Amino acid sequence: MAAPQALLICRSSDLEDGGLARRFEIAQADGDPLPAFVIRYRGRVYGYLNRCRHIPVELDLQDGNLFDLSGHYLICSMHGARYRPDTGYCTWGPCRGQSLTALDIVEEDSQVWLNVMPA
Ligand code: FES
Repeated sequence: MAAPQALLICRSSDLEDGGLARRFEIAQADGDPLPAFVIRYRGRVYGYLNRCRHIPVELDLQDGNLFDLSGHYLICSMHGARYRPDTGYCTWGPCRGQSLTALDIVEEDSQVWLNVMPA
């Protein structure tokens, strides 16, 4: 079995609680890279594919601005769907009841990593 690998995304200090997301891409062997992001919410780091469940477009306007004004939901800039930052579950909008695709994120030694398994 292949050993897991990790991709460095950013420093822990780059993620403010409820602040801007850090955008990154996940390379694919056969196809375009997948857009993704990490955010910090209530002290923990979460990561998701940057793809709304309504229509497969990025949630933000490429500016990492994903939290709504309350600071407790991630909002799709296209039609306003609201997702829970800690689970990715959509609580309001056209994709209500669906969830963002969660990523295996690890925060260690003041750095944020994505766990990836080689193909
Ligand atoms: S594309 Fe996100 S709510 Fe429509």
